[in-house]
Amino acid sequence: MPRFITITNTSDIGPGERDIFEVEDLYIAVFNVGGIYYAIEDICTHDDGPLVEGDLDGFEIECPRHGARFDVRSGAVRQMPAVVPVKWFPVRVEGDAVQVGLDD
Ligand code: FES
Repeated sequence: MPRFITITNTSDIGPGERDIFEVEDLYIAVFNVGGIYYAIEDICTHDDGPLVEGDLDGFEIECPRHGARFDVRSGAVRQMPAVVPVKWFPVRVEGDAVQVGLDD
């Protein structure tokens, strides 16, 4: 069972928006896609590119460095050159708090 911690409020990331948060030595990118929040680590598995700065196409975020694409719903690779999924975090909304689940 992950440990959920509040990292932002729903009003701070509107539909189509994203932001990055430093949480316990992790950089976590949070995306709002159609009112649903998704969170992945903000480090491309190809060569550490900043995913939060990439273009979002549907549920796919494109790394701004070499164009790898990841599904924000799972962290799965959708396009090379990355071959390893990016770390994904569960997200829940409690009231207006956006909470991300971390492993203990
Ligand atoms: S660092 Fe992301 S595709 Fe190369």
